[in-house]
Amino acid sequence: MIFFRGGKGANITLPFKELAYHKVDELTEQAQICGSINTIKKLDDHRLLGDNTDGIGLVLDLERLRFIEKGMHILVIGAGGAARGVIAPILNYGCRITITNRTFSKADKLAKEFSAIGHINSLMLESIHSAGYDLVINATSSGVAGEAPAISSNIFKQNVFCYDMFYQLNETPFLTLAKTHGVLKYADGIGMLVGQAVFAFKLWHGKLPDISSVLQRIKENADIN
Ligand code: ATR
Repeated sequence: MIFFRGGKGANITLPFKELAYHKVDELTEQAQICGSINTIKKLDDHRLLGDNTDGIGLVLDLERLRFIEKGMHILVIGAGGAARGVIAPILNYGCRITITNRTFSKADKLAKEFSAIGHINSLMLESIHSAGYDLVINATSSGVAGEAPAISSNIFKQNVFCYDMFYQLNETPFLTLAKTHGVLKYADGIGMLVGQAVFAFKLWHGKLPDISSVLQRIKENADIN
């Protein structure tokens, strides 16, 4: 394994995030909240520390895009592992969350679980009609199947920010839907991918790399290919 060759850390991706959670010796608070880890650090005493940097990676990207400000009302669509990982960092940023999901009971469970941290409520997907959200985050895996979540188009307006945690080479179905309804500021989750990686790097090396230059290089490579 990487640690026997002097490695300081390793990143974990799907579908091993939960398995890795159970394999490490110590967990950060955020890892415990998530119930899964995306990065491991080898400690000086050789024990392994598990952390989850997905949520702060998302917030870093939202800051870079100027999509987030304290006091905003954010709609999170989805209530699986991806949503669970980002709720606490968003609430701690000082934003209010409404969470919705195809299976409402899961959204309601998350809202109850995180209500001690900040302002979070749950609504049924069919009950979301308002255009009052500042930022809409798609945390569902619907994009994998080439679909967008069945959400009312009322939430979309010119000045709402839309962020899809999913990413692919082509535009994601959720962002296509948002654009069709007039949204002008939107982004997919590639920046979050880089964001979680730079925080993992920080955990290992104590330094936070610049996210923008990494994204620029990814973009250049995508343009070439
Ligand atoms: P992840 O770790 O990516 O969050 P997950 O735990 O399997 O994966 O959760 C997937 C999420 O995407 C769930 O919120 C799921 O809704 P359900 O709880 O109702 O299953 C949501 N999801 C997946 N496909 C969807 C679709 N086509 N429309 C709406 N929501 C969808």
